[in-house]
Amino acid sequence: MSATRPQILVARGVFPETIARLKQHFDVEANQEDVVWSKDELVAHLQGKQGVFTTGSERIDAELLAACPDLKICANMAVGYNNFDVDAMAAHGVVGTNAPDVLTETTADFGFALLMATARRIAESEHYLRAGKWKKWSYDMFSGSDIHGATLGIIGMGRIGQGIARRGAHGFGMNVIYHNRSRLSEALEVECKARYVAKDELLRTADHVVLVVPYTPASHHTIGAAELALMKPTATLVNIARGGIVDDAALAAALRDGRIAAAGLDVFEGEPKVHPDLLTVPNVVLTPHIASATVPTRRAMADLAADNLIAFFGGKGPLTPVTP
Ligand code: DGY
Repeated sequence: MSATRPQILVARGVFPETIARLKQHFDVEANQEDVVWSKDELVAHLQGKQGVFTTGSERIDAELLAACPDLKICANMAVGYNNFDVDAMAAHGVVGTNAPDVLTETTADFGFALLMATARRIAESEHYLRAGKWKKWSYDMFSGSDIHGATLGIIGMGRIGQGIARRGAHGFGMNVIYHNRSRLSEALEVECKARYVAKDELLRTADHVVLVVPYTPASHHTIGAAELALMKPTATLVNIARGGIVDDAALAAALRDGRIAAAGLDVFEGEPKVHPDLLTVPNVVLTPHIASATVPTRRAMADLAADNLIAFFGGKGPLTPVTP
């Protein structure tokens, strides 16, 4: 082991090519078995490491940083970085980076796919068929709601939200409304064919609501019982952002009681655990946090996280730093 090369920990399983590339620049310890380490295990593996390649499931907080004095950079293979306590990282002089842009279109594709599967009851009807229950065609069997021409409400109009808006407006002739902390420029609103509205108006009028907001203390339970009560009983809700943005218990109750028609969820509070009530309602499509999961996109995410480490230790500064 060379004393001059930075020491890097790859905290979860990742492409062998990514590890091989990192090894060209660094001394690398990699979590080859892809076990999810406890905080104590992560701290133990981080001793003497100057950099860590994270995937989004490793919590980097004040306690961990105090126990890992050599750490200088945490590179997340994810656009979301709610696993970073960015204030604590700034206080310890530790740089955080994420992986934006490279997953935008793939994630927007998935958001749209989940919306369509939810509105058109694809998962529910497939389970019915596989269970051998399909005996005849019926005029009202698995009737869902239309996507073309419907009103699409997007909460969170960053790059992925804009991608979903473009798909809805240009591909399906949807009437797109959005809510965001700040309004888009007029040019972007024209490009996305999207109209800014207050959150309550969006919830009251949208046929399909898609959540794409980052998870912060302010966005915790953006959708709870009160918000679900505003939605149309025929509406669908899709969450591809983060668990915790939706109160999953309140959502399960709303789905069970028919207060909204259906939901599609790729992310969950406390994942990989899923609220047990969600597992008992038929009108919800559940996927295991795969919105960015295509081979080229996951490779691009891994490459960008590695590029950040290489640029940082090469003296060029991080490519995509996150800010407190
Ligand atoms: C992201 O990039 O934030 C995705 O959710 C994958 O973790």
